[in-house]
Amino acid sequence: MRHLLDIADLSVSEINELIALAEDIAANGQNYAEAGKGKKLAALFFEPSTRTRLSFEAAMLELGGSVIGFSEASSSSASKGECVRDTVRVVSNYADIIAMRHPVEGAAFVAATKSRIPVVNAGDGGHCHPTQTLADLLTIHRECGRLDGLTIGLCGDLLYGRTVHSLINAMVRCRGTRFVLISPESLRLPDYAEEALRRAGVPYAVTADLEEFMGELDVLYMTRVQRERFLTAESYERVKDCYVLTPEKLVSAKREMRILHPLPRVSEIAQAVDDDPRAAYFRQTLNGKLMRMALILKLTEKKSLSAHDTLPAGEDFSGICPNPKCITHSERELAAKSVTGRDGVRRCLYCETLLK
Ligand code: NCD
Repeated sequence: MRHLLDIADLSVSEINELIALAEDIAANGQNYAEAGKGKKLAALFFEPSTRTRLSFEAAMLELGGSVIGFSEASSSSASKGECVRDTVRVVSNYADIIAMRHPVEGAAFVAATKSRIPVVNAGDGGHCHPTQTLADLLTIHRECGRLDGLTIGLCGDLLYGRTVHSLINAMVRCRGTRFVLISPESLRLPDYAEEALRRAGVPYAVTADLEEFMGELDVLYMTRVQRERFLTAESYERVKDCYVLTPEKLVSAKREMRILHPLPRVSEIAQAVDDDPRAAYFRQTLNGKLMRMALILKLTEKKSLSAHDTLPAGEDFSGICPNPKCITHSERELAAKSVTGRDGVRRCLYCETLLK
């Protein structure tokens, strides 16, 4: 059985396979109208969503399959105190594939340990969001004509923006990638994401100034400041309007640069930018549906992707994970576990936070 919990679960050739399939679906949609016939998607959304949930649902419906699920934790038994493991154990009797979004980090991993059907992580807290990355990669591929040799500016909330963490993990594996990390000091990348950059030996620049490298970028990936993930209201207020992309700030940008944003937008891109041909963020939402169609097909095929065939068991860890948003804090019966990466660094099995 295969799960997609982290974009690193997919090899570069599997990502390319998904892109090719999504492009074929875009060109020949009628050939796929019954490809998911008889299959059911369970969309388990414990956290708000517009694009991710609706594009997953639309994807399954367009494949001729059907959809069950819930769109908020309050309408599921989580509101009665049920843990993720029990919910998933039950739901895996009712569907063929699960797409799950949850506010705590590591929730999708824990779900996968108890599921009899593939689990797709549709966002686990501030940790990662691999299917948004698939949408982003298809967008970059369609808009820029390639994934190699690109300079990518990541701007905004790099600390809590899970889409950024997953996009980095994908793009570090493309040849010739360079990153420009644009954020206030307090919203810089979490350690595991910056380390992924260092380990891959990918060149990157760090700046707080949105315009400093504008003329060098092939892709500008804007993000929302993630209000719901801040520990205090004051710390959010201090940075909430840190960047606003306006037509004036694009003066030095290349004509062929593309602006991406996972959406929802709050104030970080002025609406005046929307009509600029470089603004690709609404086209990106269509790509999200195409990639989710491709992913559902691949994960529900008998012989499918190698994504996360076996989950790492981890080792017992006597301390507690220092990340207060890790699932080991909300589901107390889960034993703390660690894994040691190829870099020799010990991390939490569920949320990847560094363990001392
Ligand atoms: C993103 C998310 O949920 O992480 N949205 C999405 O899935 N398209 C980005 C965000 O909420 O800012």
